Amino acid sequence: MKVLVVGSGGREHALVWALSRSPQVKELYIAPGNGGTGGLATNVPIPAEDVAALVDYAAAGRFDMVVVGPEAPIALGLTDLLQAKGLRVFAPSAAAGQLESSKAFSKDFMRRYAIPTAAYATFADHAAAARYLEAHPAPIVVKASGLAAGKGAIVCQTDAEAQAALRQIMVERAFGSAGDQVVIEEYLSGQEVTVLAFADGRTVKPMLLAQDHKAAYDGDRGPNTGGMGCYAPASVLDDALLRQVVARVLQPAVDGLAELGAPYVGVLYAGLMVSGGDFRTLEFNCRFGDPEAQAILPLLRTDLVDVMNACIDGRLDQVALEWAAGSCACVVMASGGYPGDYARGFEIVGLDEAAKLPDTVVFHAGTRREGGRVLTAGGRVLGVTSWAGGLPEALRRAYAAVERIHWDGAIYRRDIGAKGLRAGKEAA
Ligand code: AMP
Ligand code: GLY
Repeated sequence: MKVLVVGSGGREHALVWALSRSPQVKELYIAPGNGGTGGLATNVPIPAEDVAALVDYAAAGRFDMVVVGPEAPIALGLTDLLQAKGLRVFAPSAAAGQLESSKAFSKDFMRRYAIPTAAYATFADHAAAARYLEAHPAPIVVKASGLAAGKGAIVCQTDAEAQAALRQIMVERAFGSAGDQVVIEEYLSGQEVTVLAFADGRTVKPMLLAQDHKAAYDGDRGPNTGGMGCYAPASVLDDALLRQVVARVLQPAVDGLAELGAPYVGVLYAGLMVSGGDFRTLEFNCRFGDPEAQAILPLLRTDLVDVMNACIDGRLDQVALEWAAGSCACVVMASGGYPGDYARGFEIVGLDEAAKLPDTVVFHAGTRREGGRVLTAGGRVLGVTSWAGGLPEALRRAYAAVERIHWDGAIYRRDIGAKGLRAGKEAA
């Protein structure tokens, strides 16, 4: 098979890595890829948002399958345009992808299909939203409705913070047109967990649970990021609760979209808040998580191509997902200053030394190659990933690899997986 992956992040490096392990994949391309993907696939210099160029390239290249990593091209209709050219695409249509691209759509959808979520209100007018905040004291969450690279949800502990967040989104337009509408949401406390699931339009099958770390700094402090690290499997939901998540969140979402004429094919991401044996849906995304993919895919035993083909062909019910025992941990190394402003172009050293550790892969995100050197080129730079028989060893290994890697200003959280270790001790 000849496969094209679209995207340039750590998730897409992990996808290329997992696809390259399939004996069915003979030729692998990635557009545009990054400084780490070139070893496994051919990097094609077309940006993930240039859907017209991607469609021309994919149609001319006679690809057997296109796998879309990030949300932006899905929202721009890449899946629909590729399908119109007769290509097989592992990703949802733009209509199904609204579960992520419009939080206003997503919240109304959850209300309509009785999917448990936080109470909310949606506004397109700043004054009305500001009055709502006056009537609903903090803590409260203010979210830009559109796509904002994981940074558009602002958790506000005081009323002043909430009004400032609203101004930032609606008046200063920090996220551009993503802030045309805001969703203001009841604050939920508890433990977050990501449930990723494969979906074929009808059947939905969850993967291993993963726990991301969205805050920039240790102890879940600081601004939200795209995700600073992850481990899998997480034990935040027991089997009975996971069955409830399938029955009350994932299956109704897939059934609801089918009913609306937008069957969901691809990976459905449910971000959940779990507390006291109950859960609510914080958000849906229409793709693998990043860095969840980096922590989950190394444990997948089933051939990823078989799973993706089954989703595209509507026969996921015939595929059993098999997972390796043990745990996988991914520690994100980011540029100093991320998620705010940061400088690029620093040389990264120690990558070869890190990769010598057993069961360790350094997934690249914001990197590029120049001559023989690897340079930083983005906010999240690397996802240093290790797996082992248990979480403590996976974390020890991943951090040992992190210690071998250096560039000016590199930052990373030192407490990835700490909650998982505590949960493990409580269960023991
Ligand atoms: P979202 O993009 O909607 O998932 O929000 C990003 C992050 O903001 C989540 O992963 C949570 O950490 C936090 N968050 C979102 N909604 C809420 C909420 N209703 N209550 C508490 N935290 C939230
Ligand atoms: N890790 C969060 C996300 O992919 O949205």
